[in-house]
Amino acid sequence: MRIAVPAENDPSEHRVAATPDTVKRFVALGAEVVIQAGAGLKSGILDADYKAQGATIADTTVDTIRDADIVLQVRRPPADALEGLKPGALLIAVLDPYGHIDALKALAERGASAFAMELMPRITRAQSMDVLSSQANIAGYRAVIDAAAEFGRAMPMMMTAAGTVPAAKVFIMGVGVAGLQAIATARRLGAIVTATDVRPATKEQVESLGAKFIAVENEEFKKAETSGGYAKEMSDDYKKAQAELTATHISKQDIVITTALIPGRPAPRLITAAMVESMRAGSVIIDLAVERGGNCELSKPGETVVSSNGVKIVGNLNVAGRLASTASALYAKNLYTFVETFVDKKTKAFNVPWDDELVKATLLTKDGKLVHPNFPDAA
Ligand code: NAI
Repeated sequence: MRIAVPAENDPSEHRVAATPDTVKRFVALGAEVVIQAGAGLKSGILDADYKAQGATIADTTVDTIRDADIVLQVRRPPADALEGLKPGALLIAVLDPYGHIDALKALAERGASAFAMELMPRITRAQSMDVLSSQANIAGYRAVIDAAAEFGRAMPMMMTAAGTVPAAKVFIMGVGVAGLQAIATARRLGAIVTATDVRPATKEQVESLGAKFIAVENEEFKKAETSGGYAKEMSDDYKKAQAELTATHISKQDIVITTALIPGRPAPRLITAAMVESMRAGSVIIDLAVERGGNCELSKPGETVVSSNGVKIVGNLNVAGRLASTASALYAKNLYTFVETFVDKKTKAFNVPWDDELVKATLLTKDGKLVHPNFPDAA
């Protein structure tokens, strides 16, 4: 089994799909690993670090992927970056499939069997392969660090000879994986933390992290969680009540971190321009949902907008990638645990279990076609 890790194609992507640790594990599985020169540099990994664990370094992408059975990437590469790919080779990455059918078809035509890691089912067996969770956790942490850096005041209360500095008030909107880590991080920095969500299960989670839960807890709230554990789109009445509650609370906050998402829909709009106007100058909003339309009316993808009343609204992209070394370590481990299921422990034979539920859930292209049930028309 030959595993290739080409450099990422997008220069703004600082993560890498393998670490010295996963190289070591792949080699122990009986694999040969080829890494493109410099692929790990932005994650703080030198070619020599990979080499020390048994990898070979190749100068170009073509040389890296030549004869590879498996190509590991962070993001979907353009099909022309996979020139010379062995027909049937596996490409495992975050493929961002929705709205990018043509790019997927091009990968299919290139002969790749392409797996989208973000479609991994959230079942117990696949928890260690769940890239959405591993990266959302990092994004939640980094969002608080970014907020602290943008905020011109301190996070913890400080009693000094020159006077007392009050603790910052931090409000987390959306308490999934990212939101929970944001609460924990803001608490560790000494902030006074409140949080909201539409799923009732989050109340106890928020309180167990030492934050105060704030939400419209009516009958609709009690039924807001889907059987899959996600939020539903709420009714207009609920949204109105939620907006009123948010409006009174947000004006007293120093930092707001929004993470609210609804599967298959644009992100819910939770902070209006009027709410931003009610906040104090110097306050900071970090919109982690900006790539999906944003939770704040004023946020712009990839930009920091300063409102007329001096509130900074930060729309950083790829927030997990802003902590590239840690994000890579977890992402690479997610990939390793998935690939490990393709290898027979005793014989070390490489054999993709095409009927396995994890393979069926993530496989998008095979034998030149789009094969995933979510894209029946394209197939
Ligand atoms: P997500 O990224 O889809 O959404 C983030 C949060 O936004 C969610 O908590 C959601 O309820 C909230 N939200 C949506 N609309 C909102 C609104 N209008 N107002 C306020 N909040 C709103 O969620 P994520 O992080 O993917 O987690 C979803 C669920 O999946 C959680 O219950 C999590 O514990 C669960 N999960 C289960 C895993 C497993 O069993 N292997 C792994 C990871 C997560």
